[in-house]
Amino acid sequence: MIFLDALQCKNNQCRPPIWLMRQAGRYMPEYRALRAKYSFLELCHNPELVTQVTELPIHTFGFDAAILFSDILVILESFGIEFDFHEGKGPIIKNPLQSENELHFQSIDCLNYVKVSIENLKRSLKIPLLGFCGAPFTVASYLIEGGVSKDLKKTKQWMLQRPESFHLLLSKLCNASIAYLKMQQQAGVDAIQIFDSWAHVLSDHHFQEFSLPYLKKMKEALTPFPVILFCKGSSAFVNHLASIKPQAISLDWQSNLQAIRQKTPPTIALQGNLDPDILYAPLKDIKKEALRLLKSMQGDKGYIFNLGHGIHPDTPLDAVKTLVQTVKEFS
Ligand code: CP3
Repeated sequence: MIFLDALQCKNNQCRPPIWLMRQAGRYMPEYRALRAKYSFLELCHNPELVTQVTELPIHTFGFDAAILFSDILVILESFGIEFDFHEGKGPIIKNPLQSENELHFQSIDCLNYVKVSIENLKRSLKIPLLGFCGAPFTVASYLIEGGVSKDLKKTKQWMLQRPESFHLLLSKLCNASIAYLKMQQQAGVDAIQIFDSWAHVLSDHHFQEFSLPYLKKMKEALTPFPVILFCKGSSAFVNHLASIKPQAISLDWQSNLQAIRQKTPPTIALQGNLDPDILYAPLKDIKKEALRLLKSMQGDKGYIFNLGHGIHPDTPLDAVKTLVQTVKEFS
């Protein structure tokens, strides 16, 4: 299987595997039609719909891996935290957290629908399935800010003014995430991706203090299971990420992937890193940019083609078709 081979840095085919972050989402008309009938959380909670949505982009574009349709915030259900997703605004936490004492882990059993969804998917999918969760720092930031924020001011104030309490909060989220990832692993996912989408607001040493130790703990709790680490800011933190020896690192588009390869051990796969905005360009330029990246990583046995972050909701379908075709025909 080309995706799992590349993840193990053993891909002997001429081309890399391809999948895209947020590949099942609003850029697809079939997804938008389902969303006209169901809320985002209704979709996430219903194993039959999760299976259907996860498979949508696989059937349409022929990606080499599927990613479970869900969200990094569903872990909050295991703490009894109420939240919802509002059109155009993203996630809203009903009562944003003010003290770590307010956060009480209940049980991972309320996420049983994720287990059932994975079991269903494993019966029907012919390609590998990725499970995922958010990194404790990123999930904490949503809990504290109450939703999407541009600068994470409250989170960083808490981190700087009450670092011990912040660590306790991160530990609680980390332990729950480990239980959640083990549930996904037992249900049959083939690999896990951890999303640290807000890591880029941290300085180098704060990343080492407030994010890396938790990523390490999560990775080690799953070892020898393959874990992919995605950070916004991965270009800046790649040496730190490599130091905890994940199976793969997913890179944002700011970096030159070949240059990153030169300084990363050949046993760690690299994933990425096309700028998602490239998919707004004319088709011939999408092809040109994809070929530039493909050629720069040609022959690399541990390379997985992806975007540097999630695909935008207004991406044209033809752009995605052109991209997948370019990667699959590359030799
Ligand atoms: O990649 C996939 O196709 C799998 C599904 C997936 C979703 N969210 C579906 C989703 C995954 C892996 C995520 C992860 C996620 N969720 C992250 C990390 C990755 C990243 O993008 O940085 C983050 C930060 C979240 C939190 C989140 N969920 C936000 C900020 C938003 C709103 C912003 C937006 O893009 O709308 C969501 C909603 C969300 N998660 C949607 C989807 C398909 C859109 C919901 C809708 O249909 O309205």
